[in-house]
Amino acid sequence: MAVTSSSDRGSWNSKLGFIMAAAGSAVGLGNIWGFPTKVATEGGAAYLIIYLLCTFLIGFPVMVAELSIGRRSGKNPVGAFKALSDSKFFPFVGLWGVICGVMILSFYTVIAGWAFGYAFEEIFYYFGWDTLAQLLTDTGHGPKNAVIAAVFMFGTIKIISGGVSDGIEKATKTMMPMLIGIIVIMIGYVLTQDGASEGVKEYLLPDFSKINASLIFSAMGQAFFSLSLGMGALITYGSYLNKKENIPQAAAFVTLADVGIAFLAGLMIIPAMYVARNAGIEIFVGDQLASSTDLVFQILPALFHTIGGAMGLILGVVFFLLLSIAALTSTISLLEVPVSYAIDEYGLERKKAAWYIGLGILAVSVAVSFNPSLIGTFDYVFNNLGLPIGGLLICVFVGYVWKTDSAIAEMENGFIGIKQTLFAKVWPFFIKVICPAVILYNIVSNFL
Ligand code: TRP
Repeated sequence: MAVTSSSDRGSWNSKLGFIMAAAGSAVGLGNIWGFPTKVATEGGAAYLIIYLLCTFLIGFPVMVAELSIGRRSGKNPVGAFKALSDSKFFPFVGLWGVICGVMILSFYTVIAGWAFGYAFEEIFYYFGWDTLAQLLTDTGHGPKNAVIAAVFMFGTIKIISGGVSDGIEKATKTMMPMLIGIIVIMIGYVLTQDGASEGVKEYLLPDFSKINASLIFSAMGQAFFSLSLGMGALITYGSYLNKKENIPQAAAFVTLADVGIAFLAGLMIIPAMYVARNAGIEIFVGDQLASSTDLVFQILPALFHTIGGAMGLILGVVFFLLLSIAALTSTISLLEVPVSYAIDEYGLERKKAAWYIGLGILAVSVAVSFNPSLIGTFDYVFNNLGLPIGGLLICVFVGYVWKTDSAIAEMENGFIGIKQTLFAKVWPFFIKVICPAVILYNIVSNFL
C-alpha cells in the first residue's frame, strides 16, 4: 500500500462513489455537446460505430493502464511515474499531463459558462427581457464570459477544497443519476415530435461509405477526450481507489457509463435537429449543417422557443442546467490533477492548493473569455495533440518500463485469479502493440 505524506490525500468512501466520480469526469461537454455535434457533421451512424470501436478497443485498455498506475503508486501523475520507475523522462510525461489539464480547464470553464448562461437566457427570453437574453447568447462578449466562467471556477474550487470523499464523491453521486434521468425524459419528449424519425434513422442506420481516415481520426480524439484519458486524471482518481476494488471491472463501468450517456445525448439531439427543421428552423444549408460547433447552443434554444410556453421554458432551463452539471463534474477532475500534484509534491494544504491553482487558471480563463478564438488553438495543442501523445506514452510506460506483468499483479488486488483470464492475455498485447500503433498512426496522419 502506498504511503502518502499528507493527510490531505484521502480516498473514496465506496466503490459506487469512485465509479460515480470517474464517470462524472468522463461525462461532460464532450458527450453532450461534442459528440452529437460530430455525429451530425461527420457521418451519422457511421461515426457512431467508429467512435464505439475506438472507445472499447483503444480507450478502455488505456483507462485500465491509468487506473493501475494510479492505485499502485498512490500518487498524482508526476509522483506516480517517479514512484514506479527510475526514469528521468516519464515524470515529465506526468508534468505534461498536469499542464494539459490546466490549459484544457482554462477554456473548458468558458464553454461551460456559455451552457450555464443559456439556462438563464431561457428564463429571460420567457419573461420577454430580450436584451438580457441576447447578452447571454453572445458567446463573444468578454466581460459576460469572464463573469460566468468565474462563477463556474468558484464552484469547482469549492467542491475540490472539500476533499476527495466529501467533495467530489458527494457531488457526483447526486448529479449523475439526475443527469441520466433528465436526458431520458428529454428523449421521450423529442421522439414523440414530428420529424424525429428521420433523425433516428440518421443516427442509427449507417452509411459505411462515409468512413474515411479523417472520420476515424476525429472519432478517436473524441473517445480520448470523452473518457478523460491521456493527462493523468484517471491516474489521480485511481490513486484514491481501494485495493479491494476490481480495476478492469471499474474501468468497464466507467467506459459504459460514458458511452451510454454519449449515446443517449445523441439520441436526444440528433432527432431534435430534425424536429427543429420540421418546425421551420433552418438547420441545413443544402445538405450541410448551418452551424457546427455551436449546434447545441443554436438549435436547441430555438427548439425550446418553438415549443414555447412553460413547457419550453422548463425543458430549456433543465437542459442547460444539466449540461452545466455534467461540465462541473468534469472540471472537478481537471482541477483535481494539479491540486493533487501540489499536495503530494509540494506538501500544500488541500484548500490552499485548490484556491491558488484555481485562481491561477481563472486568470487564463479570463484571457480566453475576451479572446474566444484562443479556444481553437488551446483545443488543438492540449487536447487533440496533447492527450493522444500522453496516452501513447502511458502505453509505452506500462508496456515497456513498468511492464504489463506488474500492472496485472496490481490488478490482482480486487481481482483474484485475473492471471488465468482472457483479459490478462489480451490486454498486454493491446497496451504494447495495438494502442500505441493506432495512436501513433493517428498523430502522424494528423501532421501529414
Ligand atoms: N471527459 C470530459 C468531457 O467529456 C472532459 C474532461 C474531464 C477531460 N477531465 C478530463 C478531458 C481529463 C481530458 C482529460 O467533457
